[in-house]
Amino acid sequence: MQCRKADTPLYNITQSVVADSAMVVSPHPLSTQVGIDVLRQGGNAVDATIALQFAMAVVYPRAGNIGGGGFMVIRQSDGQTASLDYREKAPAAANRNMYLDSLENVIDGLSTSGHLAAGVPGTVAGMFAAHQQYGKLPIAQLIEPAIELAREGFRVSQEEADRLNRFQEDFHKYNEAPNPFLKENWMEGDLLMQAELGQTLERIRDQGAAGFYGGETARLIADEMAEGNGIITPQDLQNYQAKWRTPLTDTYKQYRVISMPPSSSGGVALLQMLKMLEPYPLSDYGFHSREAVHLMAEVARRAYADRAEHMGDMDFYPVPIDSLLADQYLLDRMLNFQTDSATTSDHILAGNFTVGIESFETTHTSVVDGAGNAVSVTTTLNSNYGCKVWVDGAGFFLNNEMDDFSVKPGVPNQFGLIGAEANAVAANKRMLSSMTPTIIEKDGKLFMVLGTPGGSTIITAVMQVFLNVAEFGMDLEAAVGAKRFHHQWLPDVIMVEEGGFSPELKTALEGMGHSFREVQSIAKVKAIQVLEDGRLHGVADPRNTDDDAKGY
Ligand code: DON
Repeated sequence: MQCRKADTPLYNITQSVVADSAMVVSPHPLSTQVGIDVLRQGGNAVDATIALQFAMAVVYPRAGNIGGGGFMVIRQSDGQTASLDYREKAPAAANRNMYLDSLENVIDGLSTSGHLAAGVPGTVAGMFAAHQQYGKLPIAQLIEPAIELAREGFRVSQEEADRLNRFQEDFHKYNEAPNPFLKENWMEGDLLMQAELGQTLERIRDQGAAGFYGGETARLIADEMAEGNGIITPQDLQNYQAKWRTPLTDTYKQYRVISMPPSSSGGVALLQMLKMLEPYPLSDYGFHSREAVHLMAEVARRAYADRAEHMGDMDFYPVPIDSLLADQYLLDRMLNFQTDSATTSDHILAGNFTVGIESFETTHTSVVDGAGNAVSVTTTLNSNYGCKVWVDGAGFFLNNEMDDFSVKPGVPNQFGLIGAEANAVAANKRMLSSMTPTIIEKDGKLFMVLGTPGGSTIITAVMQVFLNVAEFGMDLEAAVGAKRFHHQWLPDVIMVEEGGFSPELKTALEGMGHSFREVQSIAKVKAIQVLEDGRLHGVADPRNTDDDAKGY
């Protein structure tokens, strides 16, 4: 086994590792270890994923969760695929004007913080649905490591300590009762113990999903809602179900991409962009050449424009997936593409980035087991620690996923994304996501498992890492580490990581009509590539010093 270690004193973190048979890449060394332990105990990739999802709820509280939701894409070793939607849902009392004042202006912060920002959590239902279909080891055994970590505590990393310090004011603002996260000055190595979360996890272990959606936990969530004028009811919890959906698959050259259908826009937009790129000689253009960046920005502009208009929860809105992915449609979409100038997005009011990208948080895990089964999962509370409301007595943060709805047509959410009717708030509807857990085959065999946090930038980040390998000849570590950029139609600007474009490239792109906004970092990809000799290369993103890849 070859590996490259990150310089972290507290944990043994590996950012790039090659192993013979199995691999786990997750956002925290303790959850990675839980996944590896389950694989070694004879669990499969789904078992490992379930165990590490519960463990992340403990050791990665800013995004790992039981109070949020996510998406899972599975490819079994025999080539069969599946995708699971355990995205949060709007409570039954939600309606399209719930974040507007009497003049129909958006009330600042209502969809992002506090009780009304929370959707009905889906994670626990998702884990049980996945286990019922694919689990090999008893689920109680898979939850046990999380219980232990919650009860006995763990040492927080520097990254987590920084986040906990940054959000103390919000924790005080939205919570009256004491909780384990409240502390004046968190330092790397401090012990975080979560007794109430441990008890909730025990109820889930002993009673199944009903240990979360019913009984004591549901009562505690309802009490929390009553205290903060929230609207999630015991009935909402009782009614929540995760949903198996047919994964979206299509080809790009000799590759087959398997990704998430709505309620995430990720799969559709990723495939649209790749299909629009396919006719062009991207590898001849070269990595970060003027031609490649221009072309990739232009296909992203078109895909995100479609996202804003056409995508939402397909249980509520007829998302025209077939039309959006039709070859002729995508060729037509590029008819106004000009090789030497940017197409402007100015016929609709520009969206705005209201929050620095570094304050967002989601998480992704990629797993391949010894038999070659692969799982790609992205899960989130949306922002760091979700809506900042900690369920008193039950010990976990609730999501602020309601902000992913279009709270008013044309008004951007925290990621600057706008939407319309397709993604309007409605009772029991899922809010549109950008999460893009993806698995890629090459010549019919498993080739890559990847995904990332990053809000709206998730889809373009997944695309870039794949293309860095498939078109620009990079190994996976270089592909994940390479500087990224992003375009999302509105605002009409290329977002680029600091230092990502040379002055010459910027001048050339400006000459074509592009403009830029520099950000500290874009996305944190966790990826596994199957090498030609069959070994697995796992790469954790150096942009998050907690990201960890381990294999054997
Ligand atoms: O579902 C979505 O698209 C967003 N709620 C994801 C949020 C996210 O990635 C924040 N993190 N970096």
